[in-house]
Amino acid sequence: MSKTYFIRTYGCQMNEHDSERIAGLLETNGYVRAHDAETADLVLFNTCAIRENADKKLYGTLGQMKRMKDARPELRIAVGGCQVQKDKALVLEKAPWVDVAFGTFSVAELPRLLIEREETGVPAFEFAEQTETFPSALPARRDDPFHAWVSVSVGCDNACTFCIVPFVRGPQVSRRLGDVLDEVQRLADDGVVEVTLLGQNVNTYGRDLDGRPLFAELLRALDEIDGLRRVRFTSPHPHDFTPDVVDAMASSRVVCEHIHFPLQSGSDRVLKRMRRSYRSARYLEIWSSIRAAIPDIAASTDVIVGFPGETDEDFDETLRVVEEARFDSAYTFKYSIRPNTEAASMPDQVAPEIVSERYDRLVGLQERIALEKNREMVGRRVEVLVEGSSKKDVARVAARTRTNKIVHLAAGQLATGTFVDVLIGDAHPHHLDGVLV
Ligand code: 5AD
Ligand code: SF4
Repeated sequence: MSKTYFIRTYGCQMNEHDSERIAGLLETNGYVRAHDAETADLVLFNTCAIRENADKKLYGTLGQMKRMKDARPELRIAVGGCQVQKDKALVLEKAPWVDVAFGTFSVAELPRLLIEREETGVPAFEFAEQTETFPSALPARRDDPFHAWVSVSVGCDNACTFCIVPFVRGPQVSRRLGDVLDEVQRLADDGVVEVTLLGQNVNTYGRDLDGRPLFAELLRALDEIDGLRRVRFTSPHPHDFTPDVVDAMASSRVVCEHIHFPLQSGSDRVLKRMRRSYRSARYLEIWSSIRAAIPDIAASTDVIVGFPGETDEDFDETLRVVEEARFDSAYTFKYSIRPNTEAASMPDQVAPEIVSERYDRLVGLQERIALEKNREMVGRRVEVLVEGSSKKDVARVAARTRTNKIVHLAAGQLATGTFVDVLIGDAHPHHLDGVLV
């Protein structure tokens, strides 16, 4: 009988993408997907290291896994991803019941490591420092038939002082333009209507390749792909929304009217210490040039509260920029100290009570803005892509606008992966209600 696997994914879309490749690799090697961890022969954790609570969560979960393994010694546990790349052999020291550990550059090695574990009877691991195989070159087992992640680059050449990503994903390596386009064409032939291009710094795509194909060129080329209806990309750097990228977005048929536009802080003093290359005025300028070129474009952002040395005045600047930018949504984070990063050794780490108080004020402000922006949608007719049943109510489906807003509507006969037109009836901070027209 075939062995079964279950994957739990933490962190960002890059990890979602890697997990689809991990699933593809396992299925190519005879594994089948299990419904839950309790019955699976192999449980795999694809980990994240971006903030400290991810660390704590993983070791807590691995503790629970030990109890499962004591009850079922044939169970195999594998861990991969960013935290494994950060901790390396420490993972096996802290959780010696783990069978296989592999870093971010070693995804392709997983089948070999699983075999090695059986042959030797001891944990097998690989923590390479660079990769030969682009994860996208591996087979995928996709979760959605209509949507696919396509990685265009991995790694990041920036050095934001708070961020662990350059340490766990290395410098930027882009994939050849022809390879990316071939993959998207194949996906479209397969029925995929929406792709999300992935890169740790997606809009510097191509700078490390011969001929330096540019991100704008990639976006333009995607327009030619038959069957493809929507293109999204993440995660970009505000600085790299150059005029050619904005032009390519504005003239594109497929690129959606939504961007992620990570602010991090509204204070110039803090931005400088974060080593973000823009200042608040420049940031707002780029944002207004995008809005001028693409009317009705929506934006989400990332904001870190409590970066070392952040004063009340600095935080007020963040509130001011958030108010002025009027984001459709925001991912707000409390600053988390990460090993090896420059910010970890900066003086004046902010007290947790102050961080929490600022965080709550920021969330309150953003909820108000998000609701106001969503209310502007009421009464409008928009095209949505049906993604599946709503998590809260099976009689309803969740669908997505090109501007990345979730619309709940009565399920009826609506098939996942189809486009329908809806009339927006009601607005909430994080979703809209609509009816089919
Ligand atoms: N602490 C808090 N948030 C962080 N992020 C990255 N590193 C940290 C950190 N050390 C946030 C940034 C980034 C998002 C993916 O995670 O806002 O854009
Ligand atoms: Fe987490 Fe960053 Fe790794 Fe994504 S790339 S999984 S956010 S540490």
